[in-house]
Amino acid sequence: MINVGVLGATGAVGQRFVQLLAEHPWFKLTTLTASERSAGKLYRDVVKWRLDVPFPESIGTIRVSPTSVSSLKDVDLVFSALPAEVAKETETACANAGLAVCSNASSHRMEPDIPLVVPEVNPDHLALIDVQRDHGRDGFIVTNPNCSTIVMTLALAPLRGFGFHSIHVATMQAISGAGFEGVPAMGIYDNVIPYIGQEEQKMETETLKIMGTFEQKTVRPAAYRVSASCHRVPVIDGHTMAMWVDIQEPVEKVKEAFIRYKPPIKGLPTQPKESVHFMDDPDRPQPRLDRNRGNGMTVSVGRLREGIRFIAMGHNTIRGAAGASVLNAELISSKKYL
Ligand code: A2P
Repeated sequence: MINVGVLGATGAVGQRFVQLLAEHPWFKLTTLTASERSAGKLYRDVVKWRLDVPFPESIGTIRVSPTSVSSLKDVDLVFSALPAEVAKETETACANAGLAVCSNASSHRMEPDIPLVVPEVNPDHLALIDVQRDHGRDGFIVTNPNCSTIVMTLALAPLRGFGFHSIHVATMQAISGAGFEGVPAMGIYDNVIPYIGQEEQKMETETLKIMGTFEQKTVRPAAYRVSASCHRVPVIDGHTMAMWVDIQEPVEKVKEAFIRYKPPIKGLPTQPKESVHFMDDPDRPQPRLDRNRGNGMTVSVGRLREGIRFIAMGHNTIRGAAGASVLNAELISSKKYL
């Protein structure tokens, strides 16, 4: 077992890390950190645990540590659910101190020597870990993309062979993506918020890095044009997106590609049986019905029409955040980087 910690363990994504790591077959969760407000207290006393997920009692008695390298003496790997502004410095300090860092924060995603990985889409980009080591780092940072970008790139992965160039996407994003205190209840119910800070830019840039080509110790970005419009809707979990991709092939051929898709990885504990699930029903996928498919790790795709147009939906705090990062850690571990 590898001892692991979670940075920012009391937040919306931090809780999901705790949920996924409490019974993990390869990783033993020993350390939880948060802000000075929570440090020194028992996890069960400071976390506002979600009502719809059973609380892992064994973790509840861990005393929350301050977020600093000195709190992480007995771990080899840390998962970061820190706010971006705190993550930048803290994650760098952890990696420089020899730790492996799997981060859900956006701060380091676009740095040239930091892998931005969705294991089913670009597992080969982990080779950037060697580049970080060439740069003199004892540990390393591996990031996962923004939640919407993960759902979108997984939906695009089966279609790569069609050689598309242009992607248009309109998202309908859940409120859990904004963090526990993120969206006031009085602002979101009976409403749609037509703006999510930085989200469109992240979808438009991160996608090119993830779907780019690793060559000569660097990633050459994919030559796609991505145009995104992002919106917050009153759904608790599950980001839904309408997508338009410039594929000229008939719908039947595209459907075949979704159904036959096999990702280039296997045997990782958090990996779902199906990374992408194709649905023929005219009114699916829906967040309430489909977000927990594959323990929240499967992206569901449906309403495939000429154009090519379709709907993709995935669990934003599991597939789009903590689960993505845990799957990255499993891939790293299976490749003997730890
Ligand atoms: P705390 O609960 O003590 O504030 P969310 O984005 O859902 O609000 O979660 C943010 C997470 O990051 C929480 O665990 C929060 O801890 C932690 N956090 C916020 N600010 C800091 C900080 N300045 N230093 C360390 N941890 C922080």
